[in-house]
Amino acid sequence: MAFMFLRESIRAYREQDPAARSDLEVLLCYPGLHALIWHRAAHAMWRRRLYLFARMFSHLGRFLTGIEIHPGAKIGRRLVIDHGMAVVIGETAEIGDDCYLYHQVTLGGTSLHQGKRHPTIGNKVIIGAGAKVLGPFTVGDNARIGSNAVVLEAVPPGTTVVGIPARPVERQRAKDLGHEPFDAYGSPEEGLRDPLLREIESLRAELSEFEARVARMANAQARREGQRVDD
Ligand SMILES: CC(C)(COP(=O)(O)OP(=O)(O)OC[C@H]1O[C@@H](n2cnc3c(N)ncnc32)[C@H](O)[C@@H]1OP(=O)(O)O)[C@@H](O)C(=O)NCCC(=O)NCCS
Repeated sequence: MAFMFLRESIRAYREQDPAARSDLEVLLCYPGLHALIWHRAAHAMWRRRLYLFARMFSHLGRFLTGIEIHPGAKIGRRLVIDHGMAVVIGETAEIGDDCYLYHQVTLGGTSLHQGKRHPTIGNKVIIGAGAKVLGPFTVGDNARIGSNAVVLEAVPPGTTVVGIPARPVERQRAKDLGHEPFDAYGSPEEGLRDPLLREIESLRAELSEFEARVARMANAQARREGQRVDD
């Protein structure tokens, strides 16, 4: 069981992080994986009502990885926590299978009552760096939460939400590509999505067109002058 957890978790990292070069590298150098190993132990103690030991294990995991996962949190299979630092996953949070979280993600609560107060995340959800998902609602399967979004209400399956407070957006990139764009890092092609770079690209295209027109005009002028000399 533990072996299977390790094997499929390592495979998930290798499939989704182009920087991962070998299984051994993932095993030794990925704090997200280490945090999950600590969490498995802490969660097993939590389920046996060894609450203090569970908290101590979880605290040790946090100290070593910078990732804080409450031992009560329920985490599905093949979760990838990329970079990891400052991730916080609350006590009643639940995460489905094949999810992808970046650094500084918070799955938090907004109330002090002791019941369910953290989100339930479906399967194959991507949560961008710095996003905060706050409250006891559900984020549907295949949803995408943009980096730095603050999500305060349920997200329907397959929806991309961005901003503060997070709102659904049209998935332009998926439309342009004509297929699901999940790629390593779950982000658009860096650069071309940057508005400044897009502006530079369009200015460069206009400049090339302008240069071509000037060259055509110069050629025409040269031809006319050549004809005049002949006459
Ligand atoms: C949310 C995300 C998954 C969107 O991917 P997508 O579903 O393919 O959506 P698109 O790229 O088509 O973007 C849709 C719109 O939302 C905007 N948008 C995307 N991410 C945004 C964000 N984090 N905040 C605000 N707006 C965002 C896009 O500019 C686009 O708007 P436009 O149509 O006006 O141009 C992606 O932008 C993201 O934030 N990924 C996380 C990346 C990350 O944290 N990387 C860390 C690496 S260390």
